[in-house]
Amino acid sequence: MSTRLTTDPAEAAALLRDGGVVAFPTETVYGLGADALNAGAVARIFTAKGRPIDNPLIVHVAEIDAIEAVASALPPVAEALVEAFFPGPLTLILPKAASVPSTVTAGLNTVGVRMPDHALALDFLHACATPVAAPSANRSGRPSPTTWQAVQHDLDSRIDAILQGELARVGLESTVLDCTGAVPVILRAGAITLELLRRVAPTTRHAHAAADALQRSPGTRYRHYAPDATVCLIDAPHHAEAAMTHGYIGLTAPAAPEAWGLCCVCADLTDYAHRLYATLRDADQRGLKTVFCERVPNHDLGRALMDRLRRAAAR
Ligand code: TXA
Ligand code: MG
Repeated sequence: MSTRLTTDPAEAAALLRDGGVVAFPTETVYGLGADALNAGAVARIFTAKGRPIDNPLIVHVAEIDAIEAVASALPPVAEALVEAFFPGPLTLILPKAASVPSTVTAGLNTVGVRMPDHALALDFLHACATPVAAPSANRSGRPSPTTWQAVQHDLDSRIDAILQGELARVGLESTVLDCTGAVPVILRAGAITLELLRRVAPTTRHAHAAADALQRSPGTRYRHYAPDATVCLIDAPHHAEAAMTHGYIGLTAPAAPEAWGLCCVCADLTDYAHRLYATLRDADQRGLKTVFCERVPNHDLGRALMDRLRRAAAR
């Protein structure tokens, strides 16, 4: 299969409506979309990514009114969160509508729903005129793609098309929030932080233990976000670690940036999130052995960053 590159959302949408799998940009990371109501098309996403079939997909909608086509109910707290944060980097787990095939939700009776805050993504989703199931557009286990070139690197000739957009603005996957229980529970940290969510839903909490998140969000079970290079978490860059075979990313500027094979000094947490995955992939392109990543405080956006950094470092 040859993978078409296009900047035309209507062309990409036509391929998707024909049962194709099409990568598209969003504000978080690039997604790999298929018609969420076509079980055969959805199955092709799992094949292309090499994704375990027990890991459910997020359904993307172009407008708030389209949520009711995929979710059987919108609890009051979810309605308030939609009002506050849609479109945006937030996925709500809701009771699933019967029309959504079980391949999308990996057999769960819930469905993840998200409306991206990205003009080209919304043009594409409107033109699709159907809900679009989409995981991140990487080979399973690799860092999520923040550029169309990263999608091409992982999935060329395995998917029908790539809708070419800019470098993703946020750079980390959406916050996943379970709204089906007594209180909203964060299953995956993201740019819509606990602090932001509590302004609208004060009882929101993070999933307690690993076991809690693991049970509810199958995706958290797998090793994720890992480049070929070994990822080491550090408190600050030390000159002793600097080498041309090693990369560094963090907030603190190292003493001699030119001593590193790759040196990415970020302006703040937002910039760190924005550049992390592209830097990990860049390190692989350059054949670096190790990437040293500076730890950040584990709150606000730092929580999402530390979650991805720990997973990338886990072997
Ligand atoms: O920002 C994002 O969320 C990107 C863009 C493309 O929208 N998508 C993304 O999808 O990161 P994916 O498949 O890589 O991650 C989806 C996460 C997984 O951890 C999955 O287990 C969880 O959401 N998830 C999806 N549906 C779920 C459900 N019904 N219940 C619990 N967790 C669910
Ligand atoms: Mg993913």
